[in-house]
Amino acid sequence: MDTFKRLIVYSKPYGWRIAISMVASFAVGGTDAAIAYMVEPLLKKIFTEKDMTIFVLLPVAVIIVFLARGVARFIQEYYIRTAGQLAIQDIRNEFYRKHMELSLRHFSDNPAGVLISRVMSDVGQMQQGVANVVTGLLRDGVTAIGLLGVIFYRNWQLALITFIVLPLTALPAQKIGMRIKKLAKQSLEQMGEITSILQETFTGIKVIKAFRLEQRVIDRFSRTNFGLYRNLRKSIKYSALHTPIMEVITSFGVAGVIWFGGSQVLGGRMSASEFFSFLTAMVMLYSPVKKVLNAYNSVQQSIGAAERVFDVLDQKPEVEDPADPLTLVKARGDVELRNVSFRYNDEEVLRDVSLTARRGEVIALVGPSGAGKTTIMSLIPRFYDVAGGAVLLDGIDVRRLRLDDLLSQIALVDQETVLFNDTIANNIRLGCPGAPLEDVERAARAAFAHDFIMEMPEGYETNIGDRGVRLSGGQRQRLCIARAILKDAPILLLDEATSALDTESEHMVQQALANLMQNRTTLVIAHRLSTVLHADRIVVIDKGRVVETGTNDELLARGGLYRKLYDMQFT
Ligand SMILES: Nc1ncnc2c1ncn2[C@@H]1O[C@H](COP(=O)(O)OP(=O)(O)OP(=O)(O)O)[C@@H](O)[C@H]1O
Ligand SMILES: [Mg+2]
Repeated sequence: MDTFKRLIVYSKPYGWRIAISMVASFAVGGTDAAIAYMVEPLLKKIFTEKDMTIFVLLPVAVIIVFLARGVARFIQEYYIRTAGQLAIQDIRNEFYRKHMELSLRHFSDNPAGVLISRVMSDVGQMQQGVANVVTGLLRDGVTAIGLLGVIFYRNWQLALITFIVLPLTALPAQKIGMRIKKLAKQSLEQMGEITSILQETFTGIKVIKAFRLEQRVIDRFSRTNFGLYRNLRKSIKYSALHTPIMEVITSFGVAGVIWFGGSQVLGGRMSASEFFSFLTAMVMLYSPVKKVLNAYNSVQQSIGAAERVFDVLDQKPEVEDPADPLTLVKARGDVELRNVSFRYNDEEVLRDVSLTARRGEVIALVGPSGAGKTTIMSLIPRFYDVAGGAVLLDGIDVRRLRLDDLLSQIALVDQETVLFNDTIANNIRLGCPGAPLEDVERAARAAFAHDFIMEMPEGYETNIGDRGVRLSGGQRQRLCIARAILKDAPILLLDEATSALDTESEHMVQQALANLMQNRTTLVIAHRLSTVLHADRIVVIDKGRVVETGTNDELLARGGLYRKLYDMQFT
């Protein structure tokens, strides 16, 4: 019920649309009742009394009533459904905004496909319920009430029979509704799985082709797809059962009415025309009542979806701005990790890690795979918060700073060269959206990217996502370096690409990096010999701890883990 109330709140801003639709609903309901009512004069005046005026007027009246009903129905439908779509748009926007607010853990815990599916399928299913409930309860509810009025007006005793039967139909509807809600949730989970297979296999198509995995992914896809079908089959079974069960229950009512009403007509206590008017209203009543109850099922379905959506909306971001932040405009650039420990799940990934990087220094992190280098780097921009100890920037705990302030001090160049579907200039401008083209160009030159950019069809205005625009690994890296140079932040976090480039490209990337590191405090996860040679200090990490610190020469002389890694990696 709470979920439902919350769902309804989203339609509040569109109150006037709903109000118009409601007024139109009354018109639809009213005309339905009028049609049932008209059966009586039709039969009585025309066939019993042979009244010629009515005979001429009634067909005209029928057309007018249906015309009015058509217009009302259109207005009713148009406004309620647009209101529903607008509400959904709001929910989807809020949902997306929430995702941007959530911390990195949310994204590493959920596959991208599952997240995509939540934004698309779950929200879509929520909308169906919102729209259905309003149409169902308003239009069909009003129609049902109007028809009930006719029934009671015609013959209250007969009406009571109908009235006893109707509530009985609600019982199975309620049971079925609960089942359908649970099934809806499961189906959405399966939709998530399907989307995540799609996302994974479309982005990883090269690997699939190279390893001839086509048949395997096809099998996996059709298995998941079949799982979804099995689930939907249950859901179809329940909703298909719903109507027959209701019809059987109502047949008792109809039988009662025929028996009881028929004997009244035969006994002369009710006219035949009245009886038919009653029967018409009763038969007409059946359809809106059925729709109201069906609307209930689809509401259950959308509540199932809404619960999943609200689960995410209610999550608190792990990393948030402090209540009383300290201000920091431009940092000096001293970075320190002090006795830091950290865990992703239960297992401690970092233990008592301490390191310092003073303004302008280059600190290289080296260590075996899985040692915790990337993790250390992700604590500085607060992608995650430490479990123990502290990360300090200019001596200030980063948790005391506003995230905006903190992140404007940091430029990040990741192993993965992330470029967006936009022009080259805008991809470089990412950190400073308003930067003039001269600055973009200067950054590109310093990153050794200017020359290849000028060879592209539209230079800096070339769109990266366009067909035919293909960038090599080294070119992508240099664009990301240009982006960091333009941002001109005092602290640089650099995860060097492991993939080897050809010598010429490698040389350019190295020079670009050298330009980037100038006058910045740099923490770099080193994979290149040149980087460790030029580093002011090398910090060797193993199993989440700092095991050695020193310059290349010192560490080589020591003959410890660094020596081993050096021999393996650089010679
Ligand atoms: N998002 C995550 N959730 C849970 N565990 C994680 C996550 N990311 C990393 N880990 C674990 O934390 C440990 C350290 O990982 P990290 O990525 O920091 O290593 P690394 O030193 O950067 O390794 P590599 O040189 O291979 O990149 C590993 O044992 C890894 O399995
Ligand atoms: Mg790593």
